[in-house]
Amino acid sequence: MLTAESDLLVLGKTIDIASGGKGDFTLQTKVLIKPEANFELSGFYKSGSAYCTQCEAEGFRRITYYLDRPDVMARFKVRIEADKAKLPLLLSNGNKVGTGELPGGRHFAEWEDPFPKPSYLFAVVAGDLGSIVDTYKTTSGRDVRLEIFSEHDNVDKLEHAMMSLKKSMKWDEDVYGLEYDLDIYNIVAVNDFNMGAMENKGLNVFNTAFVLAKPETATDTDYERIEGVIAHEYFHNWSGNRVTCQDWFQLTLKEGLTVFRDQQFSADMGSAAVKRIEDVRVLRARQFAEDSGPRAHAIRPESYMKMDNFYTSTVYEKGAEVIRMYHTLLGTEGFRKGMDLYFERHDGSAVTCDDFRAAMSDANGGKDFGQFERWYLQAGTPVVEAKGVYDAAKKTYSLTLSQHTAGTVGQPSKLPFHIPVRVGLLGRDGKEVVSSQVLELKEASQTFYFEGIEGGEPVPSLLRGFSAPVRLKTQQTEEDLAFLMAHDTDSFNRWEASQKLASQAILATTEALTEEKTPEPLAPTMIEAFRAVLKAGLDSESVDKSLLAYALSLPEELTLLGEMDVMRPVDLHKGRDHVKKTLAVALKAEFLKVYKALDQDVPYAVNPEEIGRRRLKNVCMSYLCTSKDKDAVALASSAFKRATCMTDSIAALACLASLPGSEKDEALQMFYSNAKGDPLVLNKWFSIQALADLPDTIDRIQVLIKHPDFSMKNPNRFRALIGAFANSNLAQFHAEDGRGYVLVADMVLAVDKLNPQVAARLAGAFSLWRKFESSRRNMMKEQLDRLMTVGDGLSRDTYEIVSQSLLSA
Ligand code: ARG
Ligand code: ZN
Repeated sequence: MLTAESDLLVLGKTIDIASGGKGDFTLQTKVLIKPEANFELSGFYKSGSAYCTQCEAEGFRRITYYLDRPDVMARFKVRIEADKAKLPLLLSNGNKVGTGELPGGRHFAEWEDPFPKPSYLFAVVAGDLGSIVDTYKTTSGRDVRLEIFSEHDNVDKLEHAMMSLKKSMKWDEDVYGLEYDLDIYNIVAVNDFNMGAMENKGLNVFNTAFVLAKPETATDTDYERIEGVIAHEYFHNWSGNRVTCQDWFQLTLKEGLTVFRDQQFSADMGSAAVKRIEDVRVLRARQFAEDSGPRAHAIRPESYMKMDNFYTSTVYEKGAEVIRMYHTLLGTEGFRKGMDLYFERHDGSAVTCDDFRAAMSDANGGKDFGQFERWYLQAGTPVVEAKGVYDAAKKTYSLTLSQHTAGTVGQPSKLPFHIPVRVGLLGRDGKEVVSSQVLELKEASQTFYFEGIEGGEPVPSLLRGFSAPVRLKTQQTEEDLAFLMAHDTDSFNRWEASQKLASQAILATTEALTEEKTPEPLAPTMIEAFRAVLKAGLDSESVDKSLLAYALSLPEELTLLGEMDVMRPVDLHKGRDHVKKTLAVALKAEFLKVYKALDQDVPYAVNPEEIGRRRLKNVCMSYLCTSKDKDAVALASSAFKRATCMTDSIAALACLASLPGSEKDEALQMFYSNAKGDPLVLNKWFSIQALADLPDTIDRIQVLIKHPDFSMKNPNRFRALIGAFANSNLAQFHAEDGRGYVLVADMVLAVDKLNPQVAARLAGAFSLWRKFESSRRNMMKEQLDRLMTVGDGLSRDTYEIVSQSLLSA
């Protein structure tokens, strides 16, 4: 045992242990830390009245000296002592093996986790919390005690999370044969949390936003997200905890895989097509943007300054797409074989993405995933171009697919990827001439032949289900797209066609506006295609109304911005509004009819039918509000007043918030007082105002920053106002006068002193500056330069993002 102080030399962040040839030894460390002053929310900190931990990626070293790397695994025994009255609840990982009273009103609890684990999975919670309890019987007959904790006031909002947990446990047994391995599973919800949630062994810690729900406080999207995140953290018990990462470069090994698993789970719980559309929308908006700028990185990054900066959309969402490609290439059964082998080989160890790839290959007769490795090595979004030629005499159809990936910082040229392209060919009668199959594109260009194609030139349906994370360029005409929108047998591609139609129209309109020309009228084919969707919204019970709602939803501004050679966010915003308004005018009667038909006063229920009804109704309302006139105000005000659930209330308020007149302020006031201080509801109140499209949005935000309920210390609150503005209100953030940029840079500097992780995320809002037209480019660069001048005063987290943003391609 090393005890003499002379054996230890503590130097700043490192500790040197005098070797002295002593062989094995026990090291005792004693540290004094101040959780109340830990605003970084990494390590051991205080949230509300409770103490908790967040150790991934490198928070454990903020608690004590340790070999804080994911490949160093140990069995943890934890003893917690505290004041019993203030902190009656004492939790850690694994099983509770002892409790008792101590003098002076104190008590203790001892916990033992039988599974060796890296320190990033360590957790402690101490507080005065309420809970709900349930049990789950595993297939092999073991009873698991499930308990979810929150502040006492919120115990009525835990039921949905509990149901989600039980569904997740069942699903992982059914689909992957994976059972839970401890006798208890605890989840604690805390209000101050940097990310969504954390999979600590046997003791998940969650951001309240991903746990708490009741109809009056949570939207349908919140309900769905809670189910997904509860599942995600639960699935980590195998993909992450039982088999973990050898080093942090392998983060996607557990995150990409676990996101894929939670996506599959959500698809099985509701509609697979709807879930796929939602995931692709997010991927295209966020990940494609990341991949196109100076922060582009492969799903397995090559270097990092602060690991926390690499919990990115690329590592998570593109990582999940890469896992999905194995699944597409191997089929459900082959993928399952690969998973079984992966767990069989690596249970209890810390491994790499190569080990995963090898398991997938070895379990499937040595299927060649050599070239597939490039997905782990090369950054950037490949562009796939498709050209089809029909030979009427020979009745053959040839499809030429070519790929190209633009250079990214540090990777000027790229090698071809191994890309699964799922295709089908449709006859003019809407029947499949060639049913879905997966083509493997491996070369820069390849031609695939289809024979015996009767009935004239077919319409190709390409990249079905979005079978690879690429941008697809085709020769499709408006007629082809309208045809696919109506007839494609792949429901994802029906939606995709609607998005392509809309995006072509919006980009053309934007260009006209930039050149100060009158935009071309919308193609009648497009209007008719949208009319058909609305008609379907009226007739049948059998159509999934969420699919219709998404078909009517125009592509996101950030996605469209990525399609522009020179980014002009305000013109784009106007162009998108123009198209939306034109559709609203042309189809006003239809929008109204569907809206009225679906505007039913029925008890709130969270199921795909009801979610779809609300979603479609509210999309119609948003179209009807594009007129920005008295009718719009009346419609949205009435919807707001009549709303009986948060979904409808937020949808109406979001419309109202961008409309002229004083009604919005009355409604916002009412929403605020109805919130009665509920933090998650107040977050929505801040966000709605941050997202408003008003001439004085920035002034309103300046006022809100001084509001007593605003706080830089709570990441949810800060992101609700400032994050929402910078990332999702493009027209206002990029306002011509540059005030949006100054505001956001001010906020980066202010929050950086408290919480570098949150500041670094926000600083990312400037990273695409080079792609904007010159005046915005200069103004954004000016703010990045300003952040750089802070020099040593800047956290390493924020420094990394800012300096990377300034790198040239
Ligand atoms: N492993 C957690 C999850 O996937 C996220 C942890 C993020 N931590 C961080 N420091 N960024 O749910
Ligand atoms: Zn995760």
